[in-house]
Amino acid sequence: MKRTLIAGLISASMATGAMAAESVEVLHWWTAGGEAAALGVLKKDLESQGVSWNDMPVAGGGGEAAMTALRARVTSSNPPSAVQALGFDITDWAKQGVVADLNTLASKEGWDKVVPKALQNFSKFEGKWIAAPVNVHSTNWVWANKAVLEKAGVTTMPTSWDGFIAALDKVQKAGFIGLAHGGQAWQDATLFDGVVLATGGVDFYNKAFVQKDEAALKSPTMKKSFDRMAQLRSYVDKDFSNRDWNLASAMVIEGKAGFQIMGDWAKGEFLNAKKVPGKDFMCFRVPGTQGMVSFNSDQFLMFKVGAASQGAQMKLAKAIMNPNFQSAFNVVKGSVPARTDVSNAAFDDCGKKGMADLAEANAKGTLVGSMAHGHAVPASIKNGFYDVITQHFNGTMTSAGATMAMAEAVQ
Ligand code: BGC
Repeated sequence: MKRTLIAGLISASMATGAMAAESVEVLHWWTAGGEAAALGVLKKDLESQGVSWNDMPVAGGGGEAAMTALRARVTSSNPPSAVQALGFDITDWAKQGVVADLNTLASKEGWDKVVPKALQNFSKFEGKWIAAPVNVHSTNWVWANKAVLEKAGVTTMPTSWDGFIAALDKVQKAGFIGLAHGGQAWQDATLFDGVVLATGGVDFYNKAFVQKDEAALKSPTMKKSFDRMAQLRSYVDKDFSNRDWNLASAMVIEGKAGFQIMGDWAKGEFLNAKKVPGKDFMCFRVPGTQGMVSFNSDQFLMFKVGAASQGAQMKLAKAIMNPNFQSAFNVVKGSVPARTDVSNAAFDDCGKKGMADLAEANAKGTLVGSMAHGHAVPASIKNGFYDVITQHFNGTMTSAGATMAMAEAVQ
């Protein structure tokens, strides 16, 4: 009698689903301190709704390693519920017919009206919402240690290329490392986003990276961009090879180096180290790219999963798109919200600038997709560009040779 009662209770609670543990499995590459802190905001949010979090971290900026891990899971028909993904990678997965349909939730919550069109181009495939954008990052930022600059006699932040080189010289002469950098292909390419924008402007950037125009890829402007990469290379320390980006950020945070060119996820590291913008560190656009924004957006791409996992998956998508969450998360991550209706009140000065820059660039047509972070060309071409940029940065290719090789990479 007693036994039947207990068994009955157990099966009743399983039938309602209310007591059954819901969970999401999430693949991502947020393993640095600031990234983990931001992810913690999302985990907590879900856990407060009774959804447990099954973490699948695969380190590596730009998500190359994460995409390789994902391929193995999709091939064995066992994808995670949600995957951090960038731009064209999202579209590539959608083409394989393995992603979920979020349209019911998206129309109920009005995502079409609040997510910028530049992001929707990737969040939707053939009219269906398939991913929930969690942020907008941008790559054409410089991060600087204020005390180092003061000691080096750099009093104002440079706004021109020559001004930047002069500042780098001063920092080196004062005994610091000019540019903190990690020699990994995606980091070299991140520098290149800003350098190409500074050298050729928005029209050239679009011609070369979005339209893959052969003449632009082979042009003197492209060669000049490579010459500038070689200039930057001369301010990098000898131990740069394969250094992780967050360790390069730490060099600026700890006052060993003056500058780092990196996307605004770097700000997450400064904040995680309790540093204050304007007081301890400065943020400014890569000199010559003021008014321009090369963006990338982390989106959680949802995969087709069994019925038992779908409820939790929708809870995750809904949580990501919540305006309060978008503020709380992005304040920690260093990025800005993926919705246009979120207040900037909780953001620090760099975040406020990031939000204003994005709105301005969007209105003026100076918003471009980051090549380095998958928002200009698909991985098949991006990886070809990566190879060229990295070989050149490591001195095994001349600027003229690299310029020709860029044009070959799109073929
Ligand atoms: C992602 C960021 C991440 C960075 C470094 C970028 O591709 O968009 O969210 O912080 O890589 O891991």
